[in-house]
Amino acid sequence: MRVKIRLIACALALLCLAGCASRPTAKPQDSELLVVGFSQLGSESSWRLANTASMTAALSREKGYELLLENAKQKQDNQLAAVRNFILQGVDLIVIAPVAETGWESVLQEARDAQIPVIIMDRAVAVEDESLYLSNVGSDFLREGERAVEWLREELERRGRGEDEIRILHLQGTYGATSQLMRTKPIEDAVRAMPNWTIAAQLPGDYTEAKGYEVVRDYLRGDRDIDVIYSENDNMTFGAMRALDEAGLRYGEGGDVILISFDAVREALQYCLEGKIDLCVECNPLHGPRVEELIRQYEEGESIPKHIYVEELIFTKDRLTQELIDSREY
Ligand code: AHR
Repeated sequence: MRVKIRLIACALALLCLAGCASRPTAKPQDSELLVVGFSQLGSESSWRLANTASMTAALSREKGYELLLENAKQKQDNQLAAVRNFILQGVDLIVIAPVAETGWESVLQEARDAQIPVIIMDRAVAVEDESLYLSNVGSDFLREGERAVEWLREELERRGRGEDEIRILHLQGTYGATSQLMRTKPIEDAVRAMPNWTIAAQLPGDYTEAKGYEVVRDYLRGDRDIDVIYSENDNMTFGAMRALDEAGLRYGEGGDVILISFDAVREALQYCLEGKIDLCVECNPLHGPRVEELIRQYEEGESIPKHIYVEELIFTKDRLTQELIDSREY
């Protein structure tokens, strides 16, 4: 019955949308498989590649899925078009990794009208009516930022610099993304609360290494008086490290600049073990099995939690070993 209603709804949606959306690709015919449309926001970072790999492995044909993957190249318009195309194809379920929080109401309503459930993965969507999606599985980005700030406060005390003037260069991820907004809040709050902390500048790095390098390189041409770099992902940190090297500034263990980085991908942990990055805040990208479990629960009519946050750690050199890094999945 559910399938029948969905087919009628899809046909109606098709009639309504035919004039304004791109031509749909036909839904795969293999009726044994559950067809999942996945709008991935991009391929900007090592984290994102690990996330896409986790999704494709978990939603494979062997496991009973036909995964239709669309890469939006960090553009929300591409995501909206992809989701509308999935609706036109009448997929069984849609997964969205949203680039930004806002702007989702209409398309989620269209999915609901077509009776297609939606799972939000990684970042969140800001919609008044949370029943527009089934569940949101991702990280507690606010907690990540809070842990980074707590660590910085303690680390400065340990170094006997608790009372010093501290100038922080803040490298920000894609504006409007939950991970950017929630990692930004704790450092801005801390600077308001700590009279000796200043944000020297907030630079847009869009979560990419190239942008991270470019903005830090340009910044250091005018101001080299930096005590901390608070970088909202590893790839921007790698770019910043290159810019610091070129500027002849020492960072990490025994250096002049404290480096804080989010994600904790293998390469960043390796730098941490080598004493080049001071703190790696973990952000776990392996959501594929979690999404698969949600789909199974939905198909079996079980109740589904609205928000699922993943357990995460923070790493400093003394908490790392080569074995731990080598055994990591990403
Ligand atoms: O939303 C998660 C963030 O997106 C990761 O920290 C970053 O690397 C990615 O691009």
